[in-house]
Amino acid sequence: MSSSAPTGFRKNLTSYGDPAFSLFLRSAFIKGAGYTDDALSRPIVGIASTASGFNPCHGNAPDLIAAVRRGVLLAGGLPVEFPTISIHESFAHPTSMYLRNLMAMDTEEMIRAQPMDSVVLIGGCDKTVPAQLMGAISAGVPAIQLVTGSMLTGSHHGERVGACTDCRRFWGAHRGGEIDAAQIAAINDQLVASVGTCSVMGTASTMACLAEALGLALPGSASPPAVTADRMRIAEKSGAAAVAMIAKRLTPGKIITPSAIENALRVLLAIGGSTNGLIHLTAIAGRAGITIDFAALDALGRETPVLVDLKPTGRGYMEDFHRAGGLTAVLRELRPLLHLDALTVTGRTLGEELDAAVPGFPQEIVRSRAAPVFPEGGLAFLRGNLAPGGALIKHAAATPALLEHEGRAVVFANAEDIARRIDDPALDVSADDILVLQNIGPVGAPGMPEAGYLPIPRKLARQGVKDMVRISDGRMSGTAAGTIVLHVTPESAIGGPLAAVRTGDRIRLSVARRELTLLIPAAEITARLAQRAVQAAPERGYARLFHQHITQADRGCDFDFLRPADLARSAPVCR
Ligand code: FES
Repeated sequence: MSSSAPTGFRKNLTSYGDPAFSLFLRSAFIKGAGYTDDALSRPIVGIASTASGFNPCHGNAPDLIAAVRRGVLLAGGLPVEFPTISIHESFAHPTSMYLRNLMAMDTEEMIRAQPMDSVVLIGGCDKTVPAQLMGAISAGVPAIQLVTGSMLTGSHHGERVGACTDCRRFWGAHRGGEIDAAQIAAINDQLVASVGTCSVMGTASTMACLAEALGLALPGSASPPAVTADRMRIAEKSGAAAVAMIAKRLTPGKIITPSAIENALRVLLAIGGSTNGLIHLTAIAGRAGITIDFAALDALGRETPVLVDLKPTGRGYMEDFHRAGGLTAVLRELRPLLHLDALTVTGRTLGEELDAAVPGFPQEIVRSRAAPVFPEGGLAFLRGNLAPGGALIKHAAATPALLEHEGRAVVFANAEDIARRIDDPALDVSADDILVLQNIGPVGAPGMPEAGYLPIPRKLARQGVKDMVRISDGRMSGTAAGTIVLHVTPESAIGGPLAAVRTGDRIRLSVARRELTLLIPAAEITARLAQRAVQAAPERGYARLFHQHITQADRGCDFDFLRPADLARSAPVCR
C-alpha cells in the first residue's frame, strides 16, 4: 500500500462514480449513528463477530467484543463490530465442514468491502477459526485471531466430565447397555458446563493452539477458558495489538511463511491435535501459497513426541492445560525444533516472545521431550493402493494392538447404509473385521462429515468390544479416539479405490510401515471402479458450487478458485 492510499473511514469507498460524493454519503450515514469527526479520523479496527444464538461455543462473544473495543480505544483506534456467518458443530446441517469455505468467503469479502485498517477475528468452534484465518489471509489486511476459549468441565457422580470425548465414551457405554436412559440423561446435563469450546484437545482447542503457533494470535491466547478474567484480558490486549499492527502493516502474508507452517505442524503433532487440524492447516497454508509436503510431515512426526496429556490422547482438560502454562509450555519444550525467527502479530519473533515469557514451573500436563505422553507425533500419514493420495490415522489415540492388523472388510456404501445396518443383529461381523464406510468424502456426503468414527456394531459392543479398525474417506471429531483411518484420498465418490472395496476383501493396515493396502489385484480394482455409478451434481446454489470446486483433503478441502495460482513454497522446510 502506498502512503497516499486511503485509510480508516476513507477506505474502500462505495462506487457512485464520484469518490467525494461517496465519502460525503458515508459520512452522513455514520453520523446518524452518533459518531464525531474525531472518532472517524482514527484508524479503524474491525471486529468480526460470530455471536449467534445457534452457537453456544461463542456464547461469551458479547463480553469479548466489549473487551476488544476497550483495547482498541485505549490504543487510539476506533472499533467497529460487524457480523459474519457463525458455525456450530451441532447446529450445521448436513455438516459444519460444508459451510467452512462459505464462512471463509464471507469473512474475506466483508474485510475487503468495509473500511477497516485491521481486524480482530472472534471465532472458536471448530470450523470458524480456519474459516476466519483463510479469509483474512486472502483479504491481506492486518488480522489477529481471538478465540472464545474452552468451556468448563462438569461433574457426574464425582467424576469430572467434558465435551466431547466423554460424550462419545458415555454414549458408547449406553449403546453397550452399561448405562441406562436415566443415567445418560443426567450425564447430558453435565457434559457442557458453560459457554465456550469443547474442553479437550479437540479441533477447536487444536485450532486455537495452531493460531498461536502460527503467530496469528497473541502469545498465551490459546488456553484461557471462555469464562475467565484471563480470557477477557487477552481480548483487551488483542484489541490494542490490532491497532499496533496497522502502522507496521503486519498482514497475515508476512506472518504465514513455510517456517511458521512448520512450527504449527510441530505443535499439531506435539499437542496430540485433531486430525481435522491438518486439513485446516493445509487450507490455511494454501491461501498463503504454501503446500504441505505430507511425506516430510510424517518424518517430523517420527521425531516430535506428544507432550500434552489431554483427552482424547491423554487424561486432562483444557482448564488443566491453561493452569500448566498453556501453549507457551509446549513451545518452550519444542524450542530446539522450532523456527524462532518466525514473526508474530506482536511484531516480535517467536523466539523473542519465548524469551519474554514467564519461566516454566513444575506441572504434570505438558511433559518434557524426555518423558512424553506418546513417543511420536499424534498423527501418521498412510499411503497404499487404497489411498494413493494418502490417509491419516491418529495413532496416539488408537489401540496399539490394532496398529498392525489385517482383516476382512465389512463395507457400508454410505452414511444411510451404516445407519440402517450397523445394529442389525444379523450383520455378519466380528471384532477382527475392518469396518469400511464409503461416500462420506468432500464430494460424497457432501462436506466430509465427521462420520468416520464408525460406531462399534451393537452386538459387538454388548460383548465388550471397544475398538476396531475403521476406514473411511470422511473425518472424525477431534475429540474422538480409536483405530480410525480417515481422509482416504481420493475419495470414493470421485472414483478413488475405496469405492472398489467389497465385503469379504482383505485389507492390511501397518502404521509402522505407514501402509494401507487393499489385498486384491490392481486389474480387479480397475474393473470394479469402471462399474461404479457416478454421483450427479446438484442443480443449483451453493451445493452446486461446492460440488464443482471442492478439493480433496490433501488440498485442505478448499475451493480450487480460492487458492492462489502460485503454490511454489512448501512446508515443512527442508533442512
Ligand atoms: Fe464447538 Fe466443540 S462443538 S468446539
